[in-house]
Amino acid sequence: MTKVLRSVVTGVGGYLPERVVTNDDLAKFVDTNDEWIVERTGIRQRHRAPDDQPVSELAVNAARKALAAAGRTPADVDLIVVATTTADLTFPAVATIVQRKLGCPIGIAFDVQAVCSGFVYAMAVADGFVARDRSKCALVIGAETMTRLMDWTDRGTCVLFGDGAGAVVLEPVAGEGTIVDRGLLGFALRADGTKQDMLYVDGGPSTNGQVGKLRMQGNQVFRHAVVNISEAVTAAAADAGIEVSSVDWFIPHQANIRILEGVARRLGIDEKKVITTLSEHANTSAASIPLALDQAINDGRIKPGHLLLLEAMGGGFTWGACVVRL
Ligand code: ACO
Repeated sequence: MTKVLRSVVTGVGGYLPERVVTNDDLAKFVDTNDEWIVERTGIRQRHRAPDDQPVSELAVNAARKALAAAGRTPADVDLIVVATTTADLTFPAVATIVQRKLGCPIGIAFDVQAVCSGFVYAMAVADGFVARDRSKCALVIGAETMTRLMDWTDRGTCVLFGDGAGAVVLEPVAGEGTIVDRGLLGFALRADGTKQDMLYVDGGPSTNGQVGKLRMQGNQVFRHAVVNISEAVTAAAADAGIEVSSVDWFIPHQANIRILEGVARRLGIDEKKVITTLSEHANTSAASIPLALDQAINDGRIKPGHLLLLEAMGGGFTWGACVVRL
């Protein structure tokens, strides 16, 4: 079989801000209650970054852990891709701030803006460099301070989100070109710009010059999520040449426990194979998948060699899935 270069995950790290905000904490200033939030979403608490902690700091903390896990240092990093929708500044990209803060040498650094699907998009984008041998050591980071985008008078959205960051190190490794190779084996990315009104932030540098607040028609997003995600999962599995049933672990974007369960039911996935961090992290947008991956590696569930399926859907709409053998 022909040798092919694969983008292999050699290290994973996660970071959550110290402050935990429970549902009961929110109920002190939002017209909501723990029972409603748990029953409708699965969320029990979220982490919230203080105002003086920018998203780049969350990203740097996660990146340091991922590099240590990979046995690499910032000096090795030649590509940084940050998936975020809550940048420190309108520009420069968070990736270049991370590069400076970590002390990485001159290389490639940019952000990917695909909201909650950002990490899946960023993995596919980074693969374009790593698997073509244009990068020897890449950091792919999902980092978000979503609580900054909340309208705290809108109980339909402000209870859903949290802050955090997760990172992976990708390195090129020769594989056999078969499904037993380690690395990114396949992906499917999708976007449908006609659904913008269902989930967006009502501000931006070239409209009103404001950061804006998140607006969502939750039940409409919900309606599209299960169908869209299921199709992308099936397409990513086909791209990788694997059966969905052969996957060891599903690592979904953590938006709502009912979406996770709906996708699992539709695809006939055993719910025991689905990694969920929703109850402790809430929806951390682009950070939720690498955070969940980090947690399940640390608690010993995910092991080297396991076949993983990552999937997400977010504003745009954008959605997608990718297949990775650890
Ligand atoms: N506490 C108490 N009651 C609430 C709250 C709250 N926090 N929020 C809404 N309600 C009330 C509503 O006012 C409504 O009351 P009414 O019947 O008296 O009018 C009732 O609960 C039902 O509201 P719905 O919006 O219909 O509730 P639903 O079951 O659809 O749940 C939710 C809302 C949780 C937002 C759900 O629609 C959802 O999770 N959608 C998907 C959202 C999502 O996944 N977004 C992220 C994907 S993309 C990304 O990650 C950026």
